[in-house]
Amino acid sequence: MSSFIPGLNDTLNPKAKFYADLAMQCTGLLQGQRNPVTNTANISSLVYHAMQETPVREGKPVNWAGFYLRNASKPNSLLLGPFQGKPACTEIEFGKGVCGTAASDGKCMVVKNVHEFPGHIACDAASKSEIVVPLRAADGKILGVFDIDSSEVDAFDDYDRIGLEAIANMIVEASDL
Ligand code: SME
Repeated sequence: MSSFIPGLNDTLNPKAKFYADLAMQCTGLLQGQRNPVTNTANISSLVYHAMQETPVREGKPVNWAGFYLRNASKPNSLLLGPFQGKPACTEIEFGKGVCGTAASDGKCMVVKNVHEFPGHIACDAASKSEIVVPLRAADGKILGVFDIDSSEVDAFDDYDRIGLEAIANMIVEASDL
C-alpha cells in the first residue's frame, strides 16, 4: 500500500511510487519523537540510503543528503545539521548559495548544474546538481532546509521536488524545530 502525496498520486510512475513508499517510512521513523536533531538525523539517513539503493535514479547517484537548520543565536543564518556524505560548510547566510536562496525565497530550488548557479557553495567537489527544499512552519517562518546533491547533472525533477516537499512538511509537523 502506498500513502497519498498531493500532486504525486501517479502510482504508475516508479519515482512517484518511490516517494510514496519513502513517505510511509518517514511516518514510521517520526512517530513518537519530536526532537529535531533525532528526526533530521534519521530522515537524512533514510533518504540518502534509499536514493543510493533505488534504480529510479537512473544512474544519477546521490552523494550528500542533509539539513541546514536555522541558527537560533544569529538571524538569517543556517547551521549545518544532521547529514550523510562528506563534511560540509558549517554556516550559510540566507541569500547565499543554493541553500541560502531557498531559505530567503522560501521556495524549493532545483539546480540542474551547480556550476551554472551564481554563488553556489561547493562543499563536495563531486556535486554537480542539487535540490534544496525549505522547512517551512505553518506561519511561513523558514526553520531550515533539506539539501540533496548528486554527482551527475540534472539528477532532480518535479517528482523529487514534490516528494521531498511532502517529506519536509512531515518533518516540520513532527518535530519541535
Ligand atoms: N551547495 C550548497 C552548500 C551545501 S552543500 O551542497 C552540502 C549551497 O550552494 O548552498
